[in-house]
Amino acid sequence: MNDYIGNCKNLIDWNKVIENLEKSDEGEIFNKKRIEKLIEDISKDVKNSSEIEHNKQTSVIWKENNYFLDSINFKLYRPGKNYEHTICDIISSFLKGKYLTSSISRVDPGFTVGIHRDSTPNLLLDKTVKRYVIFINPPEVGQIFILGDECFHNEELGNIYEWRNMDLLHSAANTSFKSQYLFHIECKFDI
Ligand SMILES: [Fe+2]
Repeated sequence: MNDYIGNCKNLIDWNKVIENLEKSDEGEIFNKKRIEKLIEDISKDVKNSSEIEHNKQTSVIWKENNYFLDSINFKLYRPGKNYEHTICDIISSFLKGKYLTSSISRVDPGFTVGIHRDSTPNLLLDKTVKRYVIFINPPEVGQIFILGDECFHNEELGNIYEWRNMDLLHSAANTSFKSQYLFHIECKFDI
């Protein structure tokens, strides 16, 4: 099980955060076109950051396993660029950790994120890094997030869960009629 840590809906106006993301309509898009480009870059021997190299390997795994790539479409938003950095400070102080990285993911109605592992540059061999997922839109029947052997559905706005470990397989599917937003954060702890 991934541990339930608490609820942060009174710490941040998540509705406002989402409203701003939708207004700016930015973010990094991952869809079939992007996945095929990543795979193409492998054959061209283009070398990128470790995160992009990790994304290339994930794309290959999806393709080799005949995952329906047309169903994949998600966006990633970054702190400082797409949402205010103060959010990271507020959440890491609630978690009593030192902030490392964060992102917000968005899956629109009808789309999925295939099962995958994330790249974990913060981790190295340091066991004091922990990862959390926060459900930041109002509960919605049909919005699914899978983390290891656990399935989260129709979660309360603001619920925070700690990943059991950093290397868990995870995926998402949005069968509802509203966009699914998740806030992901990694913090370091002095243990
Ligand atoms: Fe992921």
